Amino acid sequence: MNKDILTEAAIRAALPEKYRDLQIFVYDTTDSTNTRAEIFAREGGTEAVFVAREQTAGRGRRGRSFISGRDLGLYISFLLGRQPDASAALSLTTYSAVALSRTVERLFGARPSIKWVNDIYLGERKLAGILATGQVSEDGRGLDFAVVGIGVNILGRDFPREIRDIATSLEREGYGGVSLPDFAAAFIDEFYSSLHLVGEREITEEYRSRQMLTGRRVTVERAGESFTAEVLGVSDSCALRLRLDGGEEISLSTGEVSVHTVKD
Ligand code: BTN
Repeated sequence: MNKDILTEAAIRAALPEKYRDLQIFVYDTTDSTNTRAEIFAREGGTEAVFVAREQTAGRGRRGRSFISGRDLGLYISFLLGRQPDASAALSLTTYSAVALSRTVERLFGARPSIKWVNDIYLGERKLAGILATGQVSEDGRGLDFAVVGIGVNILGRDFPREIRDIATSLEREGYGGVSLPDFAAAFIDEFYSSLHLVGEREITEEYRSRQMLTGRRVTVERAGESFTAEVLGVSDSCALRLRLDGGEEISLSTGEVSVHTVKD
């Protein structure tokens, strides 16, 4: 076994004993760990972690793809059980952004920032993205299950042309010395250790303090229209607070919105 390659044994070897009953599925190659988790849940599976060495159809937000090159990153999905509130996808996204930032900070001493709503940045480039999905329960109030998938670029400096200017990896930023299985184990441990804090003030506050858009001018694209505004911050419910150019203040909830910083 090459200990630097993502295998179940290598991840388990780096995980504390308390995770011995956690189900961990590691794929040499798969379409998407989120898809694997959703299928597992629909077939009656319960809490589990899905990890892939590469994804052939990695999914991003808003129907985009997530480039997931072999042994270059951590592509991981957590399958969680019933969620009483249908807004769990948002609170899990917020929580995961904080958990991943904490992991990177603890292992490398780097301070990632979060770009509302689901992107993790190092400097001015994207290091990781989060996609949370779920199955809405019959009464529409909660989720039968939730899947939160995180893709982190760890190794490699050369990115495909379409993302070369906007994506980065830990290696590209000069951080190394941690194997993929050790990184996976550290993140899994961080994720479960504070999971009881999902939706709590402590997480919202940290999400806010890492928010890179606050104080910046942004272009917002929503339902085919585009406008510029200044970002005032993030609300308690994780909406993005904006001041429009005319002075009016509005809040954006996630939905089908995309926000780009305006380059000065
Ligand atoms: C985004 O940037 O819009 C979100 C990207 C989420 C990618 C991760 S990789 C693991 C999991 N499986 C997927 O297909 N997507 C998520």
